[in-house]
Amino acid sequence: MFEGLDPAKLPQHVAIIMDGNGRWAKARHLPRIMGHREGMKSVRAVVEVARKLGIKVLTLYAFSKENWQRPPEEVSFLMRLLREYLEKEVEELHQKGIRVKAIGEIELLPDEIYRLLLGAMERTRANKGMILNLALSYGGRAEIVNAAKEIARLAKEGRFDPEELDEMSFATFLYTRDLPDPDLLIRTSGELRLSNFLLYQCAYTELYFTPTLWPDFREEEFLEALRDYQRRERRFGKTSEQLRG
Ligand code: FPP
Repeated sequence: MFEGLDPAKLPQHVAIIMDGNGRWAKARHLPRIMGHREGMKSVRAVVEVARKLGIKVLTLYAFSKENWQRPPEEVSFLMRLLREYLEKEVEELHQKGIRVKAIGEIELLPDEIYRLLLGAMERTRANKGMILNLALSYGGRAEIVNAAKEIARLAKEGRFDPEELDEMSFATFLYTRDLPDPDLLIRTSGELRLSNFLLYQCAYTELYFTPTLWPDFREEEFLEALRDYQRRERRFGKTSEQLRG
């Protein structure tokens, strides 16, 4: 179905930093928000390809903790897009067996959107298909600090033994506690940074950067990123010889 891809070597978890909406709009002398609207079409395209391929988790960086500092009109517009998506498209996601999840300080979202999001998570909770994980009001450092605070609180109350703490147990305090680490992280628009995204979880993640702006990132670009991933050798700190042996 998808040429040049080995179904046995697909990433389980793909995370995407959807960047370049503003530049896409600017290049067309359009307001930035038009870039976000066009970017929604890429969201739909990528969700559909990932689902068809049988990818288990797709995490989309839809709104960072830092994005709250953008001009209020832009924040409102992004919230409107999110609301429209949750109102109009969750039923279709549900029919397709997709489970909606979210990571981030979602309680900071406007009330109505927060409730719609919880509703979408509840509605799709039992679905066994792909997990669509939306990063909203998400910051990687905040996530790690919150985990440390929670551990300190439990330790102080005598409910957690700090001696028990290791990399695995620490990860159970993160938003992603039920999810595998990302195998592949894609960032569009040519920027070469992580921007506070999944800092703990991306320790061994393969990174893929493309100059394509997010609104132009559709099925073919996504497949190319997956083909590139399949050409790589993931060593997790070991040598090639050890892996082959
Ligand atoms: C980055 O482009 C993009 C964002 C901050 C928002 C991305 C959000 C969407 C595509 C909508 C997501 C909604 C759902 C429901 C998943 P930018 O504005 O930083 O672009 P620039 O760097 O060119 O200015």
